[in-house]
Amino acid sequence: MSRKTILITGGAGYIGSSTAYFLKQEGFEPIILDNFSTSHRPKNFLFSTYEVDLTKYEELSSIFTKLPKIYAVFHFAAKALVPESTEKAWDYFHNNINATLNIAECAKDFSVPYFIHSSTCAVYGTPKTIPIKETSLLLPETPYGQSKLASENVLQQYSKWKNLRVLNLRYFNPAGAFPNSGLGELHQPETHLIPNLVISLIQNIPFKIFGNDYSTPDGTCIRDFIHIRDLAKAHLLALNYLEKQPQVTCETLNIGRGKGISVHEVIQVAEKILRVKAKIEFHPRRPGDPSELVADTSEMKSKFLWTPQFSLENMIEDHWNFIQGRLS
Ligand SMILES: NC(=O)c1ccc[n+]([C@@H]2O[C@H](COP(=O)([O-])OP(=O)(O)OC[C@H]3O[C@@H](n4cnc5c(N)ncnc54)[C@H](O)[C@@H]3O)[C@@H](O)[C@H]2O)c1
Repeated sequence: MSRKTILITGGAGYIGSSTAYFLKQEGFEPIILDNFSTSHRPKNFLFSTYEVDLTKYEELSSIFTKLPKIYAVFHFAAKALVPESTEKAWDYFHNNINATLNIAECAKDFSVPYFIHSSTCAVYGTPKTIPIKETSLLLPETPYGQSKLASENVLQQYSKWKNLRVLNLRYFNPAGAFPNSGLGELHQPETHLIPNLVISLIQNIPFKIFGNDYSTPDGTCIRDFIHIRDLAKAHLLALNYLEKQPQVTCETLNIGRGKGISVHEVIQVAEKILRVKAKIEFHPRRPGDPSELVADTSEMKSKFLWTPQFSLENMIEDHWNFIQGRLS
């Protein structure tokens, strides 16, 4: 039987490439579309790859004419650095919304049955209650979060008027790597906690904590970390869910572990694993960093009949091994 082709936008980036790696192992044929604006073409990349800017409809559409029948689009391509978005709002709106409009239009034109979209907990802004349900108020506080909510709305309309069947996955905090894949998290600049912490421990340089005066038990932010292996699997479960539930046109699910862990607690776990003490530096809070973001995962668990498997220890160890491979 021939392998089903999954089109992965942003597939040279962290989450897209890791999900492509997982899908290949699961018997699918991933095809990557990327403009390498926040990534580079990895050496010995395993997947068929097309360089294209998704904001350019004509270029994107002409690539679709060359592709085999696409079974599903997994749309990861976006600019995704929260602090940068506060300085370059227009770039974020232009890139993220136009890319989503164009890929949705092509998916509809070329009769792609399923569409999975990478959304984010940033659409909630500062939540009033924890854990956060999908039905919570949507008040994103940064251009990044606003552009992702606008993308969800674009897809909602496409599902209504143009029969595209969509699942928006609102990720919480992905981390870690697939062991021995050579793929992992290396954003430029890196704004995420675990990669910055691991590199500061390896290089014995100060680790910056942004804000220690939040209204949390130890004063640092609380986040809900999910291993990239669980996140990649959630995409396959999302596809299976759309396949098995033909009445679903567009739904939105939180993807996290539903476990809140503070920055201080992450540091303690990493210090134990790497057996070094962190050199901590306190800095002011960053704009758009709410004190606590923890998912209510009951919808995800009941719809996918699944619970994430990997721990914070696994995330730190797997990221550490990935970085060691890069440094050696
Ligand atoms: N990493 C996280 O913590 C996180 C959390 C929540 C949601 N997300 C979402 O997950 C997705 C992937 O995030 P990531 O961390 O892998 O980011 P990343 O920057 O590593 O990957 C994004 C990829 O998209 C590509 N891209 C961007 N604009 C493009 C365009 N116009 N045309 C073609 N390619 C384009 C980039 O070159 C890059 O390869 C994003 O949609 C992001 O909003 C990420």
